[in-house]
Amino acid sequence: MPHIHVEDLVKTYRVSERAPGWLGALRGLLQRRSRTVEALSGVSFALERGELLGFIGPNGAGKSTTIKILAGILRADGGRVEVDGRDPFVDRERHVGRIGVVFGQRTQLWWDLPVGEGFDLLRDIYRVDPARYRRTRDELVALLRLDAVLGQPVRQLSLGQRMRAEIAAALLHEPEILFLDEPTIGLDAPSKLAVREFVLRANRERGTTVLLTTHDMHDIEALAHRVIVIGHGRVLADCPVDALRAQVLAQRRLVVDFGHDAPDAPVLPGVSVHAREGRTLVLGFDPAQIAAPALIARLAAEHAVEDIRLEGLSIEEVIARFYAMHGAAES
Ligand SMILES: Nc1ncnc2c1ncn2[C@@H]1O[C@H](COP(=O)(O)OP(=O)(O)OP(=O)(O)O)[C@@H](O)[C@H]1O
Ligand SMILES: [Mg+2]
Repeated sequence: MPHIHVEDLVKTYRVSERAPGWLGALRGLLQRRSRTVEALSGVSFALERGELLGFIGPNGAGKSTTIKILAGILRADGGRVEVDGRDPFVDRERHVGRIGVVFGQRTQLWWDLPVGEGFDLLRDIYRVDPARYRRTRDELVALLRLDAVLGQPVRQLSLGQRMRAEIAAALLHEPEILFLDEPTIGLDAPSKLAVREFVLRANRERGTTVLLTTHDMHDIEALAHRVIVIGHGRVLADCPVDALRAQVLAQRRLVVDFGHDAPDAPVLPGVSVHAREGRTLVLGFDPAQIAAPALIARLAAEHAVEDIRLEGLSIEEVIARFYAMHGAAES
């Protein structure tokens, strides 16, 4: 039986609609106008025990909504959800003891409490055996380098320190499943590396099942074996990271500044125009079809080239390519 199983998940939000200003608010109150937003329109996937899945997609795709449903915070409007053999919403109380959740965008800890006291509170909430708690806490504090901040209130922590504290807090009760919703957002490079290394260890050494959302392709490259691309509330792709890499990560981009208005792009196999504005031409190309030096030589032979930059694609571009490649660009 899969550790996490969702089938045809549907979630609709009702949002009230009102014109701006106090008059709009008054009208909204009187008329109660609202519209619905379909965040999930039939999402299905299964995750085996010990898997580490990257869950990616553009803003508003439905990633956080899915995690909230899996965590038992929200109830789905339709479809089936089973996590560790339970319905997360119906069986919330038992469920929370088996999972750990980190939302990069907001804190789960108590803002005014020192970190260490927040941890103790979680021990009581999850009813963790005291000896076991001490062992796990000490291990997490050492691994996540938290000793210096245990006495500090959460509100005084830097973002990187807070995120490390959040991850420790999510793992104090040794959950078998970890949901990480943008755990590296806003972190500097060393903090990102620390978070990645830790997540990898939890997965490899403890066999923790991990579902991770991120807008950072490096997170995916470093951590996930498999990715699900979600868009318009649906699963657009579900494949090994290697397959995604082979298909789209190989795509490169060449940004060329000319000494004159940017010319039309040369018509070459594997080359497409991403943008052409003023003196700048941005080309996408597939290195398997044309090597960068050949493309650069071709441009430099025909035009006065002033500057050239070679770039990989960002995660948003990777996803956009995916949409295009799979013909999935719906409304
Ligand atoms: N509480 C809410 N009330 C109303 N609409 C909501 C609510 N939460 C999310 N939505 C809407 O549902 C859709 C999916 O949102 P969700 O937060 O799941 O996206 P996401 O993939 O996590 O995006 P992001 O990458 O920006 O975090 C969006 O259109 C969003 O505006
Ligand atoms: Mg989100």
